[in-house]
Amino acid sequence: MKLFVYHTPELTPADSVPDCAIAVDVLRATTTIATALHAGAEAVQVFSDLDKLVKISAEWPTSKRLRAGERGGAKVEGCDLGNSPLDCTPELMNGKRLFISTTNGTRALQRVETASTVLAAAIINRAAVVEHLLAHKPATIWILGSGWEGSFSLEDTVCAGAIASSLVDRLGVSLGDLAGNDEVASVIALYLQWQDNLLGLFHLASHGQRLLRLNCQEDLKYCSQLDLLNVLPIQREPGVLVKNP
Ligand code: MLT
Repeated sequence: MKLFVYHTPELTPADSVPDCAIAVDVLRATTTIATALHAGAEAVQVFSDLDKLVKISAEWPTSKRLRAGERGGAKVEGCDLGNSPLDCTPELMNGKRLFISTTNGTRALQRVETASTVLAAAIINRAAVVEHLLAHKPATIWILGSGWEGSFSLEDTVCAGAIASSLVDRLGVSLGDLAGNDEVASVIALYLQWQDNLLGLFHLASHGQRLLRLNCQEDLKYCSQLDLLNVLPIQREPGVLVKNP
């Protein structure tokens, strides 16, 4: 296994895809996707384009769909939900398809949708992602941070570090054996420094601060809980994620 970390969708190589691509948007799209599937959503379908989301979801029975839209951290008017994982209750999600468009996370998933395996990772489902990698041993793995509008983000970077650090431990290999690019050592260093205070790091992060200004303190707390849910969102067809059985 060779692991490559890219901080934003823009930094990924344009001319190739890995055997396994892992999109990360800890605050909050991949946390929300994992939570929705854990709560019983039939599938989560992601869109970078909101008009396309409205058009495709209109073909779905209204009782079987939910529309979630976020821009700049806030809920998009006319959608059923914004992008808070705390809204993804079993009562609301059960059996429904969640159609979702967010500022950065859904764009990251779309960037790698042609890879043979596409996973969505967050802090809350880190262990489930690692178990899948250990069981399937893909030759090349990309962890792709969503960042914020083309810039690096602390929360996605520390999640990449949590995955990479666990892989090094569980495989019993050296960092040099696993790392495909320099970013891998740096994400592990960030994780090792902040592993006992992920919430503190999220409070420092620029998007964390944006969410705090929008009164989303509880979202930050939820998103910072390592290995909370045993759920693995995996792409079944381009743009459609389901719970790995
Ligand atoms: C995104 O896609 O940029 C985020 O998930 C934004 C958010 O916190 O809702």
